[in-house]
Order: sequence, then structure tokens, then C-alpha cells
Amino acid sequence: MSTIKKIALGKNGPMVSKLGLGCMRMSPIYGSRVSNESEGIATIQSALDHGINFLNTGDFYGNGHNELLIGKAIKDRRDDAFISVKFGAIFDNGQWLGLDLRPMSIRNFINYSLVRLGIDTIDLYQPCRLDDSVPMEDVIGTVAELIKEGKVRHLGVSEIAAEQLRKANNIYPVTALEIGYSLADRQIEHDLLPTAKELGIGVVAFANTAEGLLTGEMKAPLSPDAYQNHFSRFQGENLIKNLEKVEILKSLAKEKGYTPSQLAIAWVNAQGDHIMPLVSMSRRSRLPENTEAMDIVFSTKEMHTLDEHFSVGSILGGTYLQR
Ligand SMILES: NC(=O)c1ccc[n+]([C@@H]2O[C@H](COP(=O)([O-])OP(=O)(O)OC[C@H]3O[C@@H](n4cnc5c(N)ncnc54)[C@H](OP(=O)(O)O)[C@@H]3O)[C@@H](O)[C@H]2O)c1
Repeated sequence: MSTIKKIALGKNGPMVSKLGLGCMRMSPIYGSRVSNESEGIATIQSALDHGINFLNTGDFYGNGHNELLIGKAIKDRRDDAFISVKFGAIFDNGQWLGLDLRPMSIRNFINYSLVRLGIDTIDLYQPCRLDDSVPMEDVIGTVAELIKEGKVRHLGVSEIAAEQLRKANNIYPVTALEIGYSLADRQIEHDLLPTAKELGIGVVAFANTAEGLLTGEMKAPLSPDAYQNHFSRFQGENLIKNLEKVEILKSLAKEKGYTPSQLAIAWVNAQGDHIMPLVSMSRRSRLPENTEAMDIVFSTKEMHTLDEHFSVGSILGGTYLQR
């Protein structure tokens, strides 16, 4: 398995791996199974061994379970890891209740996160969403204070619109934007991606497989207990038509000697030096396949084919990413 190269996250930002490890699905969170904890820890450690230092979590992933897991995995090797934590989401029994972005709450959240992770400083700290419940100045301002106090190194934001990104960056320099991006979800190419590029903000792109749609492994109809059934993209005729689209990815993957998931990750990777594919991998067996994806190069003709078949709107129905 090859070692993943490093890039600067954002303008003059910290050095992180060009491929990030999403740890969310290592914990029980909406829809995902309760995974094997020791396998999750082994996956994180193996990722670190191969130069994947960017570990992504949220304090609400498994109500803190995910941070505890990462804490165990990085014990005795803190310096090998770059820890990205989201805060602000309130869940109860897997149900989203809303956001809590009050400065006092953020100060509370971070203290618990630091203890669960077993570290003194979080490398990248970010509100998981922003809304109007608390002025943005107060949310970003609180993270800026935490940076001054040494509890946080860099500010990130997640799932926000272009004008919000600009505003946040005016309050305090934003190092990274975490955002859903894949062949199936390209709406951010219109304004958010160009804004991030203009402002020198790194892009941490998740959901590269579009909730599994682009893995080529999905069949219609989904099993009744699949969490994807909640989203219109995976229902009835939409799913049938969407899977027909995925056939194009499957045949290109076969032609090139890769899997559809590898091409889906490689396509995100190819969108720019400042864009990091952030991929969920809950088991070590995923690592060789997904690290190999980072070496895939597309010809102009292949890019054109993908662009044409996966133009904005070509995948029918939405997921939680359509805001
Ligand atoms: N900011 C936000 O709002 C937000 C929202 C969602 C997620 N995230 C972060 O982004 C990360 C990635 O997001 P995601 O989980 O939604 O998307 P993803 O990376 O596309 O993963 C979706 C599923 O694809 C599977 N997978 C990975 N590699 C595969 C391969 N080579 N072949 C077949 N299946 C493969 C994963 O399986 P296994 O896990 O079983 O290995 C996972 O269940 C999360 O872990 C989380 O850290 C952020």
C-alpha cells in the first residue's frame, strides 16, 4: 500500500494527507451499524502508518463514542495525527434535535472533546452547521478565542453557503471547508468551490460515494432497513434511473481496471490540489483500495464522459445534502 502525499490545508495551512479518514461510521450514528471497535482502532492506526493523518470526527458521532475511539487509536502517537472535530449538533436516540452554537455551549463541548480524545489541542475545530440562532460573530469568535487559549489550532466550517463562508472568513481566517461533494452532488461547483479557492480555503470533501450510490454495489429496491430509503434519491423510479447512470461509471471502472468506488474518489481528488477526499473506512480492508484510488489519472476524454453523464441534476432526487 502506498503512502499518501501531504498538502497544505488552505493558504499556508497545516500539512495534511491528500486523503482524509472519515471516522463517523466507526460509531453508531444515524443509519450506520454498530461497528467493531477494535477494527476501527486498527483502521485508524493503519491509516496513520500509511501517511493518512487527517482524522475526521464530530463530538456527536455516537454521542462521544467516536472521539473516545480516536483517543484510544492515537494514544502514544498524538503527533502522527491531525484531528478535525465538528460540534454543535444535538442528537437524542439518533434523532437530530437541532443546533446548539451558544458560546457557553461551545466552551463546554470542547472541554469534553479534549478529555474524550485525550489531547490538549484540537487541530481543526468547526461548527457542523451555522444558522441564525446565534450571530456568526459569536460562534466564530468563540473558536477564535479557543485558538488564542491554545485549545484549538485552526478554524473550520462545514456545510455552509458561499456568502456565509465569506462572512466567516472575514471574522477569522477559515482554514478548511468540510462539504459534501461527489459526481452525484456537484451543485457546489457553481459558487461555493470557487469562493473557497478565491479565499485560499482548503476543501475537505465528504460523501464521495454519495451514500453508496457510486460504489456500484447498490441494487433496487434497497432492503427495507437501509437508511438511504429516507432520501428520495434512493426511492422507486429515481433509484432505478440513478443506478442506470452508475452503469457508466461501472463500465469506465472496468475498462480502467478499478472499482467504481475508486473512480468516485479519484474524481473528487482530481478536482484540485486544495481538495481532499474525506472517505469513511471502518475496516482495514478498505485502505488498500481507497489509497490506490489516489493514484488514478483520468484522460481528458474520460473526464469529459464523466462530466457529461454526471452533470448537475442528472442524478434524480436528493439526500440531506440538498439544502
Ligand atoms: N460535515 C458533515 O456534515 C458530514 C456529513 C457526513 C459525513 N461527514 C464526514 O465525512 C466522512 C465520509 O462521509 P460518508 O461516510 O457520508 O461518505 P463515504 O466516504 O462516501 O462513505 C459511505 C460508505 O462507503 C463505504 N466505502 C468506503 N470505501 C468503499 C469502497 N472502496 N467500496 C465500497 N464502499 C466503500 C463506507 O464503508 P465503511 O464505513 O463500512 O468502511 C461507507 O459506509 C464521514 O466519516 C464523516 O467523518 C461529514
